[in-house]
Amino acid sequence: MPRTGGSRKKTKDAKQAAIFQPPASKGAKAYVKNLAEYEAIYKKSLENLEKFWGERAKQLLTWSKPWTKTLDYDFDEPRIEWFAGGKLNASVNCLDRHIVGARRNKVALIWQGDPEDDTRMWTYQMLYDRVCRCANALKNVGVRKGDRVVLYLPMIPEMVVAMLACTRIGAVHVQVFAGFSAASVQSRIQDCEAKVVITADGLFRAGRVIPLKANMDEALKDCPTVRRVIVVNRANMSTTMKERRDIWWRDLMADRSLNANFPAVQMDAEDLLFILYTSGSTGKPKGVMHSTGGYLTYAAYTMQYVFNHRDDDVHWCTADVGWITGHTYGVYGPLLLGGTTMMFEGGPRWPDPDRFWQIVEKYRVNTFYTAPTAIRTLIREGDEWLDRYDLSSLRVLGSVGEPIGPETWHWYHDKVGGGAIPLVDTWWQTETGGIMISPLPYATPLKPGSATRPLPGIDADLLREDGTQAGVGEEAHLVIRKPWPGMIRGIFRDAEKFKENYFSRFPGCYLSGDGAKRDEDGYFWLLGRLDDVINVSGHRFSTAEMEAAFNAHPAVAESSVVGMPHQLKGEAIYAFVRLNVDEKATEQLRADLRKWVRREIGPIATPEYIQFADSLPKTRSGKIIRRILRKIVSGQVDELGDLTALSDHGVIDRLIEECERLTGMSAIGRA
Ligand code: WT7
Repeated sequence: MPRTGGSRKKTKDAKQAAIFQPPASKGAKAYVKNLAEYEAIYKKSLENLEKFWGERAKQLLTWSKPWTKTLDYDFDEPRIEWFAGGKLNASVNCLDRHIVGARRNKVALIWQGDPEDDTRMWTYQMLYDRVCRCANALKNVGVRKGDRVVLYLPMIPEMVVAMLACTRIGAVHVQVFAGFSAASVQSRIQDCEAKVVITADGLFRAGRVIPLKANMDEALKDCPTVRRVIVVNRANMSTTMKERRDIWWRDLMADRSLNANFPAVQMDAEDLLFILYTSGSTGKPKGVMHSTGGYLTYAAYTMQYVFNHRDDDVHWCTADVGWITGHTYGVYGPLLLGGTTMMFEGGPRWPDPDRFWQIVEKYRVNTFYTAPTAIRTLIREGDEWLDRYDLSSLRVLGSVGEPIGPETWHWYHDKVGGGAIPLVDTWWQTETGGIMISPLPYATPLKPGSATRPLPGIDADLLREDGTQAGVGEEAHLVIRKPWPGMIRGIFRDAEKFKENYFSRFPGCYLSGDGAKRDEDGYFWLLGRLDDVINVSGHRFSTAEMEAAFNAHPAVAESSVVGMPHQLKGEAIYAFVRLNVDEKATEQLRADLRKWVRREIGPIATPEYIQFADSLPKTRSGKIIRRILRKIVSGQVDELGDLTALSDHGVIDRLIEECERLTGMSAIGRA
């Protein structure tokens, strides 16, 4: 490793052997310098939330009209209002205020395509010009304030342009990750009633070209609200363009009459900034709504504190902009602070498993944010892929999406970071808008596997089933007791679900759906979801949604989907399927079902195993007992728990036997 003599200090005390003291900030300004300072800020922030967040919002954002009331809320209704009366615009905060000064010629966006020679670098001025042109073009095709625009795009710079152009008009962007199927895009377009969609002909992945517009055409067969389809030419694929509906991005932007300036619409702080769909415990994805003033305040604040952002940093968040991580730390966070953000179209292993490190060296990346699943994949490839690169530009490493076990943590910290720089394990959710529980790089002592402590302003707590506060080491529900500016404002057109999902289990608290425990130092250890949501490679899937997809297949009578522990993905999708009586359980049918689910939900939802079963464990009232299936696939066959509710006991042995045959592993091997 290029970096030697790192400041890795392990305390001698055996009990605390796993604590890593934060390194010095190497002369740079640390926003929070040590643990005592963190504790003081934390305490003060909760004593006066309004003061704390008011100061942040004023410092970090430019408002065209100041707010009159910092916070008004009632978690029982629920109603959450931050910065009422205030007005601002997202793209003005990301662009206009930077181009009036020295940042005009600073690189805002570095884009690295999947092919190595495909790169683009845009200054703030260049990005501003493109966003204004795009806003004018969108206006010309009828996009108005409040309209929903669905973006189904690969990781290309046009994605950022389209997002910010929407916000300039006051339109609501709704990203759908390009890995989702036609059926998934369709249901999202239908739910949000999009007026315009923006997509691309195809996308590059590991040197191959994959069609995208074809999916969109399939999706649009039943989307009457969509008037125009704008198509970016990314892959030179032959594409059928429907007359009067479809238009090439290039042609739309080429119009010289598009005024280069577009006066930004000033939005109310609580106006909807974007909707992003995420899976919940029911079959239907939820349209998570985020507000303009609150979300932006929170994105800027967390970006600054958690990455200890400096003006000359190159920040690289590897997450796709189609997910919340890409929204907040690929686009909004860095641009709000006038930073330089890296966007990468490809994946970590193509053409070789050194791609991440090669890019870090190439662009001298300073702050690097990725998911444990990517790190686990790279660990398997061997250290030689990383040893040949100079990674000394790195200053902060981040992890997000799922628990990062101590082993992965150590490799990331020791090998990638040379043991000398902080690793921030950041816990948050689509609904929280930004990072909630995380170390501060130069203040928080690290414990591998723990997301450590809540950020200042975040009142996180752990509750037992009966609502009382959990003690040290007790597994409990992770809740947030007080509002924060970045929090979800609603589920699009489903007020009831909003209340029920987040505010009814423990009145007066936001329910995260995650389990966690807290140690004697107040450190949080995340334990995964407590609801029927599984986390595959840092992506959230609802088991109910997947079961609905299986059940829609003509050969399937019923199904049950559970998460199975998986070395690389964290969890993998394991489906139990009972076929209709006249169907034969063949390998062909198994392959068909796998394809079917990929088509229904998307390639990211490919089941790891599909087990045919003649019967599933049920209660006497006919409810499938998923808990038992979960134990079977994770090899905990001796801990099946209370089986008195079970109607047919023989079913269990048959399920275990078949599971062992299918996975080629005994229960011990899997566990
Ligand atoms: C769920 C949210 C928000 C980032 C991307 C995922 C899990 C997220 C961590 C972490 C343990 C984590 C939780 C959470 N999760 N970060 N650092 N340690 N678990 O967003 O799709 O909304 O999923 O991801 O279970 O509830 P998401």
